[in-house]
Amino acid sequence: MQHIVIIGATSSMAEHCARLWVQASPLHLTLVGRDESRTQHVAQDLRVRSPLSNIEVMTTDFVNAARIRQTVHDIVAQAAVDVVLIAHGVLPDQNICQDDVVACDAALQVNGVSPVLFAEAFANAMVRANRGTIGIISSVAGDRGRKTNYVYGAAKGLVSRYAQGMQHRLAHTGVKVVLIKPGPTDTPMTGALKAKGQKMACVEDVARDIVHGIAAGKSVVYTPGIWRIIMWVVMHLPKFIFNKLSI
Ligand SMILES: NC(=O)c1ccc[n+]([C@@H]2O[C@H](COP(=O)([O-])OP(=O)(O)OC[C@H]3O[C@@H](n4cnc5c(N)ncnc54)[C@H](OP(=O)(O)O)[C@@H]3O)[C@@H](O)[C@H]2O)c1
Repeated sequence: MQHIVIIGATSSMAEHCARLWVQASPLHLTLVGRDESRTQHVAQDLRVRSPLSNIEVMTTDFVNAARIRQTVHDIVAQAAVDVVLIAHGVLPDQNICQDDVVACDAALQVNGVSPVLFAEAFANAMVRANRGTIGIISSVAGDRGRKTNYVYGAAKGLVSRYAQGMQHRLAHTGVKVVLIKPGPTDTPMTGALKAKGQKMACVEDVARDIVHGIAAGKSVVYTPGIWRIIMWVVMHLPKFIFNKLSI
């Protein structure tokens, strides 16, 4: 049975990936969340969808490096990991983060430092086994700093650059790192943006792209795919045009 681990298992994107995975075949699934009852709720739904799967729940503190190390140690001690999807994140209010460095620190920790520490901790165990895939969710927001969300964007930029470095380090091993960059997607995280009328991708489609990208061991997955082109344009806009935009 494949062993898939989901960090931030209550994320809507992650939950939809899990549904696709259990639909394909019974799995050993380890769901890691920060809240026991929310994570159990996701597990219960998946057990109904896939009674033959072995679905476990763990909780941890996502912004405590020692707890991250212990959590990953406990998971890999149980069974070798085939895939880990690192999915947690929160969309902070840019203005609050600019005004208060404590809020800024919290946003940077949970969106940037925490996911890369999970990735690093799993990488070491996977290198020892010389197999496995680490899927890590960054964002198109990490491709170029913009005034409306550069705290979140900078944290995601850390995730993207870190994953790139890990890909380089692990290139000649059996371990793959898949960097996932979703565009705006209809999940609880973007409820406020949706209420303002922003167009969103459907979470089922994004989850399908993530699952396919991980299975194929792609280096970078933009989802929906059009965001690869949009972000190429945004990254190459000259400063005199870029600075006139309210993005
Ligand atoms: N939706 C988008 O438009 C979009 C676009 C680009 C990238 N992303 C990224 O995609 C990933 C999945 O997000 P989603 O859209 O599925 O959002 P979501 O459904 O709102 O899920 C967010 C997840 O992050 C967890 N989380 C939030 N704050 C946390 C904290 N302080 N400590 C630990 N866990 C925390 C939540 O746990 P609880 O259930 O316990 O709150 C939940 O599992 C995130 O990395 C996000 O940044 C999303």
